[in-house]
Amino acid sequence: MCGIFAVSGERNDAGSMVLKGLKKLEYRGYDSWGIAVREGEKIDVEKQVGKISGVKQKFPPATEAMGHTRWATHGGVTKENAHPHQVGKVTLVHNGIFENYLEAKKSLDDWKFHSETDTEVIAALLDREIQGGKNTAEAIRAVAEKIEGRFAILVMVEGEPGIWAARRGSPLILGRGETETFIASDIPAFLEYTTTVNYLDDGEMVHIHGAQANFSNLKTGTPVDKRNITVDWTTEEAEKGEFAHFMIKEIFEQKQTIIRAINHEDEKLRQAAALLKQANGVYFIACGTAHKVAAAAEYFFADISGRKINVVPAGEMPYFERFVHEGTALIAISQSGETADVLEVLERGKKKGAKILSITNVETSSVARIADAHLPIFAGPEKAVASTKAATAQMALCFLLAHADAEMRERGSINRGREILRTTASSINDLLNPRYEEHVRDVAEKIVDRPNLFIIGRGALYPMALEAAIKIQEVSYIHAQGFAAGELKHGPIALIENRVPCLVLGDDPETVSNAMELKARGARIIGIAPTPAEVFDEWLRVPDCNGSQAIASIIPVQILAYHLAILKGLDPDMPRNLAKSVTVK
Ligand code: AGP
Repeated sequence: MCGIFAVSGERNDAGSMVLKGLKKLEYRGYDSWGIAVREGEKIDVEKQVGKISGVKQKFPPATEAMGHTRWATHGGVTKENAHPHQVGKVTLVHNGIFENYLEAKKSLDDWKFHSETDTEVIAALLDREIQGGKNTAEAIRAVAEKIEGRFAILVMVEGEPGIWAARRGSPLILGRGETETFIASDIPAFLEYTTTVNYLDDGEMVHIHGAQANFSNLKTGTPVDKRNITVDWTTEEAEKGEFAHFMIKEIFEQKQTIIRAINHEDEKLRQAAALLKQANGVYFIACGTAHKVAAAAEYFFADISGRKINVVPAGEMPYFERFVHEGTALIAISQSGETADVLEVLERGKKKGAKILSITNVETSSVARIADAHLPIFAGPEKAVASTKAATAQMALCFLLAHADAEMRERGSINRGREILRTTASSINDLLNPRYEEHVRDVAEKIVDRPNLFIIGRGALYPMALEAAIKIQEVSYIHAQGFAAGELKHGPIALIENRVPCLVLGDDPETVSNAMELKARGARIIGIAPTPAEVFDEWLRVPDCNGSQAIASIIPVQILAYHLAILKGLDPDMPRNLAKSVTVK
């Protein structure tokens, strides 16, 4: 939620560097943007409503600047509400939510607020502390104490060189160049300048000035030592290259990512499985697409290792928290590893003594760092808001983990699981070609004018029907709903009328007969299956994947969703109202 980027260095084009960096973070929020540039004693702010991608702004020469792309939480999408916010000598950008901001605002009746944001309240509190005689570090510490909720802030103060950053909950990463330092909410913003990073941990702050970065504890002010870490992301991975959009690039990357996801030592998988075996209750916690992956994992574990796992959307976990205690295993699945709802469950679980296993794409994310054991999925940066390659990589890893769980009783199970996934990956490789994409696009053309769409599947294809609905909803804005194949006739079938498109995942006899029930009511049946059943009006072939069918079956839907968006003239990488990483509750 919201992209943050700052640079302090020797080059004289800090404003343009921030503009360029923010364009790479636009997937985090894109309703408005703003950049602050230090010009001698003054700090100039430029803000605009709309996407930053097409902006060609010139900035005055400067060695320090910071900026923000917004995903609105408090107050509408207006220039006034865009960040940075300025109060007195303080200029500030913010990611997160200041939950008790209204209460704090009451104490600031001497300041006339220009925006409806919680952010301006933080800026005003800081300015008041500085005016009251505190130095900037002391002021930030004092204000952080007053904030309830997760936040990441960057602060520039007039007449005081350098940029301050502080975080509690929302991510901030430092890029360490030879003569400059960057701070960003994600690595791609500075990847073209450096691959050496420091992670600002929860409850820490830092002051950067040129190549200098001084870290300290946000509560006590005690200095903190940081290790330099080299990240192995490449600029190509973080760019679109020859593809028109990140979404289609990432869909095609599934040729490699499924294999990369299962590149874990057997021992590591066994240790992760042991955590489940020793646990007194296993809960998979995730949001959105990652939650649908977890729901598919429920079927994998039931089928492969005979274990019943509980799958709970992170936001619903408070209702089941009484079952979490010492010895419970919480398995968190999250592409970004920064999803606030997931983190909250883990933080509360940890306090109760639960053991945490994380499955994320960002090894150094907050979710990965809070975990007792971590299984990365190695998918490389996923920038399109719609999760595609991360979802199939997470599924492949869960499938293998279920085999590792079965290995306890059945020697050779991990190898068998890996073999199935290798075959799946190679058949997906055959599928992902321009001819197949063209065929899916033809199908998209036939249904793009339809306002409603339904998807059915059974077994692990049921959660894929739910995931298919998310993919179609979020990028094409077509109303799509997924159901367990046998459920449609218990109510929703009333919505079926002539030419309503229904995606049918699978070609087993029961699902085919459910498809016939739909067809009898006029539905247009699009089968996504290894064989072409007679009931299918259109057939999108997928390979026969021996238990890992869910992984292959979602890929045509991803391509379909992408082309539905393109045919409607929408930007699939930046769907309305959404952001890639949901760091607010
Ligand atoms: C995926 O297409 C969605 N945009 C969204 O549901 C996402 O999966 C969800 O917000 C969870 O994100 P995470 O995997 O980074 O935790």
